[in-house]
Amino acid sequence: MLPQELIRLKRDGQPLAAADIKTFIQGIADDRISDAQIGAFTMAVFLNGMSREEVVALTTATRDSGHVMQWDSLNLPGPVVDKHSTGGVGDLVSLVLGPWVAACGAFVPMISGRGLGHTGGTLDKLESIPGYDPYPAPERFGDVVKSTGVAIIGQTGNLAPADKRIYGVRDVTATVESIPLITASILGKKLASGLDALVMDVKVGSGAFMPTTEKSHELAKSIASVATQAGTPTNALLTDMSQPLAPCAGNAVEIVETLELLRGERPNSRVMQVTRELAVEMLMAGKLAHSREDALSQLEKALTSGAAAEVFARMVRELGGPGDFMERSDSYLAKANVVKPVYAEQTGTVQRIDTRAVGMSVVELGGGRLRNDADVDHSVGFSAIVELGTQVDRQQPLAYVHARSEDAAERAAQQLRAAFTMGEGEASIDELLQKTYRGEAL
Ligand code: URA
Repeated sequence: MLPQELIRLKRDGQPLAAADIKTFIQGIADDRISDAQIGAFTMAVFLNGMSREEVVALTTATRDSGHVMQWDSLNLPGPVVDKHSTGGVGDLVSLVLGPWVAACGAFVPMISGRGLGHTGGTLDKLESIPGYDPYPAPERFGDVVKSTGVAIIGQTGNLAPADKRIYGVRDVTATVESIPLITASILGKKLASGLDALVMDVKVGSGAFMPTTEKSHELAKSIASVATQAGTPTNALLTDMSQPLAPCAGNAVEIVETLELLRGERPNSRVMQVTRELAVEMLMAGKLAHSREDALSQLEKALTSGAAAEVFARMVRELGGPGDFMERSDSYLAKANVVKPVYAEQTGTVQRIDTRAVGMSVVELGGGRLRNDADVDHSVGFSAIVELGTQVDRQQPLAYVHARSEDAAERAAQQLRAAFTMGEGEASIDELLQKTYRGEAL
């Protein structure tokens, strides 16, 4: 079918056949379809939506538009599983989760991204580690996954190339906020890494990518069922992002926290509760655990024995980082020139946090990007961020700011104060683990 005919059908609210969607998406990857046609198509989808079958077809066509990884030839002695998140602030889950489930026998080829908008990027955090190479050759990637159980790397050129063009056009044609297009975009890339199972972490709250709770639920449901129908069993957890997940936001500061968590410190912190729940899902989906209790007991052992920390250390070493990073991280991680406490203007209880604003403040400190070719300052950010419901006063700061200069620290301190709403009485705190959507096969 000619591209203009497919666009016309969607414009008029008519159903599209899977084969025609596939031809159109392949035409995008091959540069036979113009940006104008992509823009018209995405706007038609934005306005008229897509049936579940159409989203599955769009997802598989996006996945198959480039290289799809195969793991069979490596004869891995365990399942290939991964997790993806819609992103947030202080969301260092991937850094702990990958090594943790690998220490329980899973294989995790994790393709991660850089910071996007107010949300931090796993790759930017890992690049705080001197020498860490997030773009190894494909064979090396496979070798590290096999020998270590996990490799966290960046997206290489030929994975789901159609999405790269479609996303670029959506970004400038006001068509980003469409559940069918977001589903196919996220899953097209993720499923190209040849997974046996996937777990999705969809965030809800003031630091979430989706603008409302209803939209977060809709996306979680869509991702779980579309991925499962596309052949990769997937569950989606809805988790709270109405405050930073870990008590820090930035790059090196999140690596410091990761190392402490992997050493078994603060096992019941909010970030560890979310990480543990995702890990349970991954072990069960990968058939490494026969029950939730079994998964929890394996995870406990992997953490307290130091096995999870050892896997992280090995991944860092295999991907070019220092061999003694775990022991001497302090001498390797960049430190900010200025580190100082930020006190609230008034004493009281933290009632609300504008988490998006905290993330944007980290970007402005230099910890994220204002242009996509800019460098990131790994040393800056916030640490020891207090949680909702904490009583703050002249002794208890809201957080510590890590900045390049006194001026930058002062600007960030003002932004942080403005992001925190103080008051009297108990704060209302949303549930951390809100819901699980289980994918259903056709
Ligand atoms: N992340 C993606 O990869 N794609 C989207 O459409 C939105 C977020």
